[in-house]
Amino acid sequence: MDRKEFLKSLGLLTAGAAIIPSEGTIRAAERFSGAGANGQSTVDMATDKEVDFPVKSLRANVNGGPVKVIIIGAGNRGRTYAEYARKFPECMQVVGVSDIRESRKNAMGDTYGIPAEHRFGDWSEVFKVAKFADAVVISTPDDLHYDPCMKALQWGYDVLLEKPVAQTEKECTDIAAQAHKYGRIVAVCHVLRYSPYFRAMYQTLRDGMIGKLISIQHMEPIECRHMAHSYVRGNWRDSKKTTPIILAKSCHDLDILRWFVGKPCKTIVADGSLTWFRPENAPEGAPKRCTDGCPHESTCPYSAIDIYVKRKQHLGVFDLKNSRDEQEIMSRISDPNNEWGRCVYFCDNDQPDHFVSEMVFEDGTTASFSMEAFTPFGGRRTRIMGTTGYIEGNGSSFTVYEFRSNRKLVWDKKVSEIPEYKGSGHGGGDMALVCDFLEAVSAHDESKLTSSIDASIESHVMGFRAEKSRLSNKKVSMK
Ligand SMILES: NC(=O)c1ccc[n+]([C@@H]2O[C@H](COP(=O)([O-])OP(=O)(O)OC[C@H]3O[C@@H](n4cnc5c(N)ncnc54)[C@H](O)[C@@H]3O)[C@@H](O)[C@H]2O)c1
Repeated sequence: MDRKEFLKSLGLLTAGAAIIPSEGTIRAAERFSGAGANGQSTVDMATDKEVDFPVKSLRANVNGGPVKVIIIGAGNRGRTYAEYARKFPECMQVVGVSDIRESRKNAMGDTYGIPAEHRFGDWSEVFKVAKFADAVVISTPDDLHYDPCMKALQWGYDVLLEKPVAQTEKECTDIAAQAHKYGRIVAVCHVLRYSPYFRAMYQTLRDGMIGKLISIQHMEPIECRHMAHSYVRGNWRDSKKTTPIILAKSCHDLDILRWFVGKPCKTIVADGSLTWFRPENAPEGAPKRCTDGCPHESTCPYSAIDIYVKRKQHLGVFDLKNSRDEQEIMSRISDPNNEWGRCVYFCDNDQPDHFVSEMVFEDGTTASFSMEAFTPFGGRRTRIMGTTGYIEGNGSSFTVYEFRSNRKLVWDKKVSEIPEYKGSGHGGGDMALVCDFLEAVSAHDESKLTSSIDASIESHVMGFRAEKSRLSNKKVSMK
């Protein structure tokens, strides 16, 4: 069977259709032509077009030379954003670094040729010297966003601020007020917004391709091992030291819902709990650490030995000398002080492992959101219901179903195969965010970003109110 016959057999080639779908389109169509959730066959429509929006170049349009930035917090995220300067040195230059870990501070200092006087320890040291850059990137842990951001704005820097913005609603609104007071730009790292996938989905809605938006179902599958690593054993396990998981993990999702609807949220109701990762669910005889001869190690899906030594996932937290050395990884997780070697049932964690919520927006649009720990995959799932069509997306491709024309339109760009986007995490959103931020700083124009600080804060407030609803068992107003 040749390619043309194959397409015909899938119903993908309509009479006279000028556009032959790409291999990517074929794959997407196959995925979506399966059975629905109720087991019945889903729509039988012909795909005769790809949804195609131009993907923005990652080379920032900056005037007057590269934008100079200081990285505060040279960990995983700080290194990610700094990487932009290696790819596009004509657009961004890393001229300062702050990290309390000498090794991280100097690794970044050496990579970007930062002079000794601009290598700082604690973040506060950056603001003991006169302003020497255009902007700062704040990528410190969640409890160290507010103070550095307030200070940076006062010092006259524009800010690329990691999410969550801050730990309380009041601190978030303080940051917005400070940005307005000093006339500075604060871009919140809601990276998904900047990914070609979500940008195309947004454009589909704005172009009226499914008529008037009526409701959205959105799910964030965390993936079971990612949950164990980050929200049971790791950095975000304690909601009081960081932020509730609806912000720590899912502020991106609330932000996307608010962005898609384009109207303020009126009410929010939420529920969910930490059901599984608790001492009473530990299998019989499980020791406190996976490396202490646990009889369940070979079958436990959350085994630290399996995740770190065998699968070699999430190794960034270990600062390994040899990134793949199994002995080195084993010795780290065997160290009684290493938090990632702990049994998932005996951690000091309090973050829910499932969280559901429902929102009503000012024009009556509704949205439901659920965050789920127990999935074998990550990648957001989204279903959008409109008056003339429906969208279904799996985090990397989406299909638009038109009711009247019986057409199926597919967006399935392989972003990782676009040379400029190669290696840019979050579906390309990481580097695209930096690009837009640099353009905004260079032009002193917040509108170059997909989100103003006020819109970012609004979606954070939705997160705080959702947590309030979960804890109080009450529907909460956004007023
Ligand atoms: N936008 C996203 O999708 C996304 C993804 C992951 C993490 N995050 C957020 O990014 C932030 C950083 O996360 P990460 O994974 O890079 O963590 P990380 O631990 O890898 O990096 C944080 C760095 O901050 C440094 N630091 C701590 N205290 C400091 C201080 N007083 N002064 C200067 N530096 C200090 C640490 O030594 C560390 O190197 C967190 O707030 C996290 O929630 C965002």
